[in-house]
Amino acid sequence: MSDAYNLLIERIKSINTLSSIAFLLDWDQEVLMPEKGVFARTQQMSLIAGLSHKRLISDETQSLLENAEDAQLNELQQANVREIRRIFDRQARIPTKLVRELAETSTNAKGIWAKARERVNFEEFSPALTKMIELKRRVADCVGYADEPYDALLDEYEPYAKTKDIETLFADLGSKTAALLRTIEQATDKPDASILNRHYPQQRQETLCRQLLEVLNFDFSSGRVDTSVHPFCTTIGGPGDVRITTRYLENFIPSSLFGTMHECGHALYEQGLPIEHLYTPLGEFASLGLHESQSRFWENCIGRSLSFWKAHYNKVKTAFPNVLSDASVEQWYGAINHVTPSFIRVEADELTYNLHIVLRFELERAMIRGDLDAKSVPAAWNEKFEKLLGIVPPNDREGCLQDIHWSMGLIGYFPTYTLGNLYAAQLLEKMKVDMPDFDELVTRSELKPILNWLRENIHRQGRRYRASTLIQNITGKPVSIEPFMNYVTAKISTVYGL
Ligand code: CO
Repeated sequence: MSDAYNLLIERIKSINTLSSIAFLLDWDQEVLMPEKGVFARTQQMSLIAGLSHKRLISDETQSLLENAEDAQLNELQQANVREIRRIFDRQARIPTKLVRELAETSTNAKGIWAKARERVNFEEFSPALTKMIELKRRVADCVGYADEPYDALLDEYEPYAKTKDIETLFADLGSKTAALLRTIEQATDKPDASILNRHYPQQRQETLCRQLLEVLNFDFSSGRVDTSVHPFCTTIGGPGDVRITTRYLENFIPSSLFGTMHECGHALYEQGLPIEHLYTPLGEFASLGLHESQSRFWENCIGRSLSFWKAHYNKVKTAFPNVLSDASVEQWYGAINHVTPSFIRVEADELTYNLHIVLRFELERAMIRGDLDAKSVPAAWNEKFEKLLGIVPPNDREGCLQDIHWSMGLIGYFPTYTLGNLYAAQLLEKMKVDMPDFDELVTRSELKPILNWLRENIHRQGRRYRASTLIQNITGKPVSIEPFMNYVTAKISTVYGL
């Protein structure tokens, strides 16, 4: 064991332990904090962000890092040092003052966004967005980039990914999706999704969601579930404290049901990370795209499959007596896989979902390039929305104000959602080869072997490999849209009788 390596790891662990406190404060702000707490919270967040940044980019960390790089290391240690170097280089280029300014602006802007969204008034949010774009452009300039500033931002969420590769994938995905949508429009046998809009009392939804979490093997001794405006998953202290949130709409049951399964997928990844590498890159997820692949896998590949509901539809019927007495499991399956252009990303079907991402990717890329200013966002949004989905949002709440991301400075983040869909389908394809009885397992509700496959191939690997390398290693193929298009086309054929 190398001393130089251990000294570096000790240092990194202390820095990441400090940063992790901010996750608890952030969770608290979303779930419990009273509105006026934001004033003090802004300063708390800024202080922690500043302290951990300073410690990270210090001369001391730098010399520990250089010593470790000169030492004899095994493959795992090399991977850890490689990732520490990546983070160090990135962060060292950003002045601490800018880091603190970002933390303050984000904490503040989140509140402004929430109010603007509630009041359906984009103008209230516009100055905060302008400020955020300006800060993120400064970040991109500090970090540096080969092709365009968006690369520098994307790299924070999907390490090693390049904007031009995303653009190519998305162009292909966009045109194939449009073609499939046209086929669906012509189908005569359309599922009836209105059963999802019946009255589903919240308390019973809560019970049902808990049951489903148990089915999916969510570990309640290492996590909890709460309610928030925007469902999310956050890790407070490694695999032992992973928290998810969901939201309940009494006249639209998919919101809580699939939101819960989605966040559960994120949580299963976090609960499965190697605890022996806690607070070091090896103990972290590989990329946000890979993270999203885990959530989409459980939400869609499992949670929207007929096999799954053959096992669990009775739970829904029992939770809401009489509400679904006239609907068979096949009708339920049709309803939850009903494809139709809609306004809200998180409630979109599996096919049109990616169009919502293409739109956000194009708009934020234009903002970062300086081709689009904040106040022109609503008009640009609506115009692009009509082009991609054929409909225009009736207001900004159902349009450009629906997502929290831009207020938090999460720019370059959206593409990871679609990457997650692509990764999930590619993993599913390989899983079915490795486990020929996959569908029977799901129908018998034996989900442990499936979780174990993910644990071994993905979760236990932490950040040892780049996401794209890991996908290539597991599936033997580079990342492509093909498995996703095959998966979604097959499903749509069954649902629409094509
Ligand atoms: Co997600």
